[in-house]
Amino acid sequence: MTNPKILVTGGAGFIGSHACVALIAAGYRPVVLDTLVNSDARSLRRVSRITGVEPPLVRCDVRDAAALDCAFAEHDIAAVLHLAGLKAVGHSVSDPIGYYDVNVAGSLALVRAMERAGVRTLIFSSSATVYGDTPRSPIRESAPYAAVNPYGRTKVMVERMLADLARADARWGIACLRFFNPIGAHESGLLGEHPHGPPDNLVPYISQVAVGERAHVVVHGNDYETPDGTGVRDYVHVMDVAEGHVAALRHAADRGGMLAVNLGTGCGASVLEVISAFERASGRHIALRVGPRRPGDAPAYWADVQHARDRLGWCARRSLDQMCADSWRWQLANPHGFDEREPALAARAVI
Ligand code: UD1
Repeated sequence: MTNPKILVTGGAGFIGSHACVALIAAGYRPVVLDTLVNSDARSLRRVSRITGVEPPLVRCDVRDAAALDCAFAEHDIAAVLHLAGLKAVGHSVSDPIGYYDVNVAGSLALVRAMERAGVRTLIFSSSATVYGDTPRSPIRESAPYAAVNPYGRTKVMVERMLADLARADARWGIACLRFFNPIGAHESGLLGEHPHGPPDNLVPYISQVAVGERAHVVVHGNDYETPDGTGVRDYVHVMDVAEGHVAALRHAADRGGMLAVNLGTGCGASVLEVISAFERASGRHIALRVGPRRPGDAPAYWADVQHARDRLGWCARRSLDQMCADSWRWQLANPHGFDEREPALAARAVI
């Protein structure tokens, strides 16, 4: 099949829009399905600035069976990347049913619609959060499920459902991609992360301090048993994550069965190391204050990446310095996200 069409749920969001860029670069044609509740349709225009192709947008909810049937009928879809979902841990504690509805019932509705359409290749965006608080790092995919909040449990439930499906019907090819901490932006400076409201995550927060929108970063605890006392995570460039989706798509389409794979770099970086890297990238001082630990935070974890290498032939290629440089380029050119007049394409931009 030439240039297969891939349905990308959540394709207007941070990771989804970068996945569209990677799909187009690999010769696929993304079709985006998104409610735009937590994303912006203008990201797709930016995808076209980078690639020359603007993915069509189907604006609907992944739980809407009739709308899904229309999308499959209208486009000759070969496979699905399922990134749509809710992802704020704190909010999942206060609204668990909302999270089970969107994340679990949404995935179920999607799988049923795929079955009706005869499309049986699915890449699911999961999360390292399925491992819970304190597994030994590097974390292998064989570590047990131990999610500690409703958000994490929605990911576990969908992974289990998909594993049962793949066991029951050999026509399905499924990959669950367990993201560690995706950060960075497309190196053109045209596409990046713009949280609605105050950012929960570290790097968007640091970027807003660097650009002068916020006064200082609060470091959530410096008394952990880590080399500098601050939390350690496996930050991975969003374009590496996007390319991981393409590798998983090829694998699932060719081999079938069900695979769960970590998408990380295999290296941890502390909060202070990320702040220093961002200072180097931006040439600006990042003011910080040390606050108490954030409830529910684990001290340190990072991925074992051997399985991704062996099974997908994928590994992360971009460094922490590049993640920060790309985030900074995006932040500087788009301090108000996609509201900004479209910036010029950075000279060194490539897909
Ligand atoms: C969070 C989610 C995780 C999700 C991931 C997506 C929680 C508890 N976990 O992971 O489920 O998959 O985002 O990327 O929300 N930090 C500060 N100051 C800040 C913000 C963060 O010091 O203002 C620290 C945190 O304590 C942590 C590190 O920075 O050590 C990374 O935090 P964050 O970016 O929020 O990601 P995670 O908590 O790892």
